[in-house]
Amino acid sequence: MTKKVFIETVGCQMNVLDSELVIGALRKQGYDLTDTPADADVMLFNTCSVREHAEEKTYSSLGRVRLLKKDNPSIVIGVLGCMAQKDQELIRKRAPYVDMVVGTGQLAEVPKLVEKVKATREPQLAVSLGRADAGRDEVEASFVSYDPTRDPTMRPTPFQAFVRIQIGCDKFCTYCVVPSTRGPEQSRPPAHIWGEVKQLVDQGCKEVTLIGQTVNSYVYDHGERQTRLSDLIAGMHDVAGLERIKFVTNYPKDMTDDLLDAVRELPKVVKYLHVPVQSGCDEVLKRMKRNYTAGYYMDMLARCREKVPGVAVSSDFIVGFCGETDESFAKSMDLVREAKFKNSFIFKYSERAGTKAADRYPDDVPEDVKKRRNNDLLAVQNENSRLDHRAQVGGTVEVLVEGPSKRDLASGDRPAPGAVRQLTGRTMTDHIVVFDGPDRLIGRTVCVAVTDSSPFTLFGSVPTDELVGVDLANTDRDPPPPPAAPHRFSLPLA
Ligand code: SAH
Ligand code: SF4
Ligand code: F3S
Repeated sequence: MTKKVFIETVGCQMNVLDSELVIGALRKQGYDLTDTPADADVMLFNTCSVREHAEEKTYSSLGRVRLLKKDNPSIVIGVLGCMAQKDQELIRKRAPYVDMVVGTGQLAEVPKLVEKVKATREPQLAVSLGRADAGRDEVEASFVSYDPTRDPTMRPTPFQAFVRIQIGCDKFCTYCVVPSTRGPEQSRPPAHIWGEVKQLVDQGCKEVTLIGQTVNSYVYDHGERQTRLSDLIAGMHDVAGLERIKFVTNYPKDMTDDLLDAVRELPKVVKYLHVPVQSGCDEVLKRMKRNYTAGYYMDMLARCREKVPGVAVSSDFIVGFCGETDESFAKSMDLVREAKFKNSFIFKYSERAGTKAADRYPDDVPEDVKKRRNNDLLAVQNENSRLDHRAQVGGTVEVLVEGPSKRDLASGDRPAPGAVRQLTGRTMTDHIVVFDGPDRLIGRTVCVAVTDSSPFTLFGSVPTDELVGVDLANTDRDPPPPPAAPHRFSLPLA
């Protein structure tokens, strides 16, 4: 009988990619993926520590698993990722039935550790060094970038893939756990990245999203010269079959002109920049140690829009950070009004043990005030998103069709082959579009006429000649996409 593995993923794109890689490695050991916890021989939880809520989510999942483990003590239960690196042995204090705890820099060890647990029934802990535990080189070496053979069946769709170009973070924003959970910032060698992109395109991938915590800080030092993000993108741009290149997340201070020129000049680069501002108040930004002022951010934003006409920009905000007064919050309201972001991800500040903010500043904004500020900021953003979406009605957009829409999936209908259903995809400016069409459009880029909009979605229709064109082009070259992987994604983040 084949062995079965279940995985639950919370957190950011890094974790989605890590889960893909871990499952790819376990498949090689003869495991099959299951979405039924009770069928699993191995249950993995890939975790996030960025806010308390994300950790609570994992603990409540682990709580549900306790009974399964009681009924079937041979199941191997593993906690992976950021919370594993951060809390280490503490996880087994709260959930003693966990068999293995594996940090972000040790994920390549998962198959070996599973076997070890099975052979010895001893709990296994594999984590990287803490940032203060040793010299930088040693700490860096203990966070191994894990980017082996890719597994197309584990991706959100078979024609879209994340590619890690950078691990870790060195910015040390005072509120953030990521520099300790992901370790020192390290840029992967360009040749490895280009090789991986080619491999992905050979597997049928059409869109790659280059990921890093501050992706635009990417720089690989060859000694005599450097490769920057703009060079990296230029070096993969002409790979035949690759249609779209995206990159997230950007750090405002590192938004250089060479990168913006590349975004404008290279047609495959998506005209969308996610550049979190976090707050509109200079004192708050200073306490966050973001290293810029609101004025600097707005100038950077103007430069993005001047250099890349039509670019869509989105942001993150933290509301209720330590010492945020009504006046400082009003500055975030002003900034979001003025900045006209395509969308914003807004988070209530969550104090994280071990961060500079937790050591230095009291978490002094009451929960109800955080909630109110979250809602107020969201209301302004939603109005801007509504106007941004409405301005596109009457136009035509190029959409990479990702699959059935949420509504279509929720309906549970199984349409006959070729029947029209509701599909969804994204434009070259990362806008979500919903329209009716047959399954065979999935994985293709089609023109959609935008007929209506809401604050979050464009609604459209595919012109008939486009459908005919697709019909003709419906050759045997492109195999139909495999069914969606039975994988649980739970992504509270951007
Ligand atoms: N590296 C990326 C994203 C980091 S985490 C960046 O710097 O932009 C994603 C978002 O979570 C952050 O942008 C921030 O808005 C939010 N975040 C991080 N730590 C947080 C905390 N302690 N409480 C609330 N939100 C937080
Ligand atoms: Fe966290 Fe700041 Fe690094 Fe982003 S840039 S991961 S917010 S420390
Ligand atoms: Fe969370 Fe780790 Fe990503 S803390 S946001 S999963 S880098």
